[in-house]
Amino acid sequence: MKYKIKSICCIGAGYVGGPTMAVIADKCPNVVVEVVDVNKERIDDWNNENFDKLPVYEPGLSEIIKRCRNRNLFFSTLIEDKIRNADMVFISVNTPTKTKGVGAGKASDLKWVEACARQVAKFAKGHTIVVEKSTLPVRTAEVIKSILESSEKNSLTESNDSSFDVLSNPEFLSEGTAINDLVNPDRILIGGEKEDAIEALCDVYRNWVSEEKILKTNVWSSELAKLTANAFLAQRISSINSISALCEETGADVREVSRAIGSDSRIGSKFLQSGPGFGGSCFKKDILNLVYLSEFFGLPEVATFWEGVVKLNNWHQKRISKLVVKKLFGTVANKKITILGFAFKANTNDTRESSAIPICKDLIEEGAILKIHDPKVDPNQISRDLGKEQKKEKDLAKEGDWIFEKNIKSACLDSDALIILTEWSDYSQIDWIEIENVMRKPSWIFDSRSVIDPKDFVKSNLNVWRVGDGSIL
Ligand code: NAD
Ligand code: UDX
Repeated sequence: MKYKIKSICCIGAGYVGGPTMAVIADKCPNVVVEVVDVNKERIDDWNNENFDKLPVYEPGLSEIIKRCRNRNLFFSTLIEDKIRNADMVFISVNTPTKTKGVGAGKASDLKWVEACARQVAKFAKGHTIVVEKSTLPVRTAEVIKSILESSEKNSLTESNDSSFDVLSNPEFLSEGTAINDLVNPDRILIGGEKEDAIEALCDVYRNWVSEEKILKTNVWSSELAKLTANAFLAQRISSINSISALCEETGADVREVSRAIGSDSRIGSKFLQSGPGFGGSCFKKDILNLVYLSEFFGLPEVATFWEGVVKLNNWHQKRISKLVVKKLFGTVANKKITILGFAFKANTNDTRESSAIPICKDLIEEGAILKIHDPKVDPNQISRDLGKEQKKEKDLAKEGDWIFEKNIKSACLDSDALIILTEWSDYSQIDWIEIENVMRKPSWIFDSRSVIDPKDFVKSNLNVWRVGDGSIL
């Protein structure tokens, strides 16, 4: 083999860089893995002695960090140094939607990716394989390559012996199950031109992934496949959420509809769970990117088709907050409402694009007093997401304030309504008699995640709404 990888540098110690490199270090003990980031606080958290304080919460992650950290896995801010010593550099930085300029609101902002490419161009020594791990618009590899090549030609590099290959290796992990997804991936996708470089990356994955799961494509197919996978998954959620609204009007039950259609092997049963709308840092951003690309390449019909998935999601989130207000006699002003779950899904501390954010903002706008509980999300993160500090003196909370609650029962004290927004397992084990006793009457339970069992409510006086359940209305 032409290139044998002994040292990896990953730029970006976030939700992808951290867990992905931890698994690579765990599975490849002979490879030194250096994760670098500009954010010193984040790096300090990765190096925290207290494994409960790592910056990313993922089941199984802290055990791997315990095994590998300071063995062959290192976290630091020494970006230049670690690029110099790497045979392979992964770019795993954020690529959010642009907020201004050309393509604002749709195109991905590539300024961080470009900054990485320039740093690699400047500091790399010898032959370096640059791997796009971030999700990128189609043809970004070309941009990275031209930055690297121009520095080769213009001797902008520190050393004059540098050369590069660029590969696309998108990540398909889901938060909350990231470690399992990384250890047992459905596939590893590698897009590239040069066989030697592709082989070198395959060789890293072969330490734990079987050959038939490693798919090799051209760079453009790999980049587009990542956007397409997320668009298809999100489209299924918008589809089922649209049907849930119809179920509520017609007396059907969306769980029964999901089971019935999911049993068709052509449709399949996954990603048919109606909820409060999809969140997370990827789906909306990646679909909007696809919309932008379609418009850019003169395909307005394609753009409109995919934009519909995001529009339906926005509508569905709004539908839930409106419905809560309607059921509480048209006003929530000064009423206490318990929010169970703020993360965008269970088993993560990530709140990016969580449906809880617009739903809570709507209710705060309507004057409700929110009592928010989440087992993993930091209350400071909720403050940032809601653009509002929590009321520290709980008893003085008034119209439009919010309070963080550590305990589910105290979160329900005197509340008129309780809304389940994340499917944390704790919420399916609630003793509803106990909750009924502490809530103000008439009390409402809104379950946007189908975690409750309606049978538990037969003898209670609680009013219950479940997403897509026309049979209990
Ligand atoms: P993140 O925001 O959690 O982490 C990105 C990190 O990159 C940050 O810590 C930031 O400080 C750092 N960074 C940015 N510019 C830098 C620079 N020039 N030098 C050093 N560090 C720099 O983002 P994430 O969720 O890990 O996502 C990273 C990429 O992976 C995105 O393109 C995303 O679309 C993609 N992705 C994310 C997921 C997911 O579940 N979060 C899954 C698959 C793919
Ligand atoms: C997604 C993709 O699944 C993953 O492959 C990609 O690498 C990154 O984006 P992630 O956003 O972490 O992963 O979580 P995912 O499980 O896809 O959930 C996204 C959102 O959809 C969550 O808000 C989740 O609650 C919601 N969802 C998911 C539903 O509402 N119903 C479902 O049936 C599945």
